[in-house]
Amino acid sequence: MKISFAALSLPAAGTAVVVLPASGGTAAKLGKLAAQLDRKAKGALSRAIAAAEFKAKRDTLLTVPAPISGSGGGKLKRVLIVGVGDVKTFDAAAAEKTGAVLYDHLKSDETASVIVEGVPDPATTAARLASGAKLKSYRFDKYRTKEGKDAKPKLKALALLSDDPAAAKKKYAPLEAIADGVFFTRNLVSEPPNVIYPESFAAAAKELAKDGIKVEVLGVKEMTKLGMGALLGVGQGSLRESKLLVMHWNGGKDKNSKPLALVGKGVCFDSGGISLKPGAGMWDMKWDMAGAGAVVGAMRAIARRKSTAHVVGLCGLVENMPDAGAQRPGDVVTSMSGQTIEVQNTDAEGRLVLCDVLTYVQQKYQPRAIVDLATLTGAIIQALSEHYAGLFSNNDELAEKLTKAGQAVGERLWRFPMGDEYDRDLKSLIADMKNIGGGRAGSITAAQFLQRFIKDTPWAHLDIAGVVWNEKGTALAAPGSTGYGVRLLDKFVSENYE
Ligand code: BES
Ligand code: MN
Ligand code: ZN
Repeated sequence: MKISFAALSLPAAGTAVVVLPASGGTAAKLGKLAAQLDRKAKGALSRAIAAAEFKAKRDTLLTVPAPISGSGGGKLKRVLIVGVGDVKTFDAAAAEKTGAVLYDHLKSDETASVIVEGVPDPATTAARLASGAKLKSYRFDKYRTKEGKDAKPKLKALALLSDDPAAAKKKYAPLEAIADGVFFTRNLVSEPPNVIYPESFAAAAKELAKDGIKVEVLGVKEMTKLGMGALLGVGQGSLRESKLLVMHWNGGKDKNSKPLALVGKGVCFDSGGISLKPGAGMWDMKWDMAGAGAVVGAMRAIARRKSTAHVVGLCGLVENMPDAGAQRPGDVVTSMSGQTIEVQNTDAEGRLVLCDVLTYVQQKYQPRAIVDLATLTGAIIQALSEHYAGLFSNNDELAEKLTKAGQAVGERLWRFPMGDEYDRDLKSLIADMKNIGGGRAGSITAAQFLQRFIKDTPWAHLDIAGVVWNEKGTALAAPGSTGYGVRLLDKFVSENYE
């Protein structure tokens, strides 16, 4: 779908969309161009609005088919009037949602033009409508060989018409960069686990070199030297070699500044290992790398919009498989930090991967702050369902900033408590800790485990197990991978590190 921005003039073909603020059921609020269109259509729009008692409530729609007869505007297929409700609350996030709603109603058209009038800031609204439509247009259909033409979306060109198309275009540029990041993440997360495994994940991330990101990949040899016994233990039952992906972006002037660190759990398939998961729904565990996916997508977004921030992104990439060579429940591994871990359950593998990456990133980069993203626990889905991700942090200010960023982009976070009373659950009889708690508050004990590997750095952990895949689809995503985290991280970076 090609998105363009143009000046306000009557669309000649396809579908025209009229953006209409709430007006108590009259056509009085039709903008200048919409009113002109109405006159050309001999009052068809205002008649339809009155007859349908259309109140222009937010995201409600009214279709006027073939409004113009005869020559001139004869090819206009229909006018779609979309309500935006009270313009005072029609902010950036609301406009994106409306853009997504529009996309769903326009995808069987070839071309559509949206007349953006009557809102306080038409250029921003046009850009946000475009962004919402773009995000909603994502589809992962590369493996569908038999899908008929009619089943595919047809929309080729979406034009946003406003009084300042140059400003709208400028405002859309960073949003397009962010959407590129989201799509990259959605692709990685949607791919099956025979296609995306540690090596191929890292190879895909190398594409980010084109965006100006320095990409480095460490293999088993390097990680063995570094003493990453916890991460390596998880991958030892897999035929696929474990990898550590390191991405580096410094858009600032100070080349010696300390970076923000983003860390992602990249378990490309989580069978549970010897503590094997039940069969039903096990395929879901292809998206156990969505934390890593979000970190890669966020790096792309940050780089493509030429952020002035300094950010490193690290992903621990492994496959957790049962095998004669796999680690056993009861094994004790030594992490890079020197702390020993009794692996009582090989299915609590995410924390084993993350703990070594967390140690590495602190030693190597002395970051200003660390944010990790992980599909870490099923318990977080019990607690929050698909509506919020869990937030755990040792720093109130950082937690607050992340919560705000999430709120702004509709990727919401809910903070959980932490404390010694939970940490105690990790006591092991024979090692420094075990990798599971007592079975209660599982998301918190998982976070406590990670915190044992954080020295003095402000750190936040986002448990995203409930929000990265959605069977029904979300406001801005079709069913499947949501790309959760990319927009949140990008917002967090732009608000606090630029
Ligand atoms: N990847 C899973 C968590 C998960 C479960 C994500 C369901 C998405 C949907 C994680 O590695 C895991 O298996 N966690 C265990 C921990 C337990 C063994 C302490 C869990 O949540 O059951
Ligand atoms: Mn697991
Ligand atoms: Zn897992």
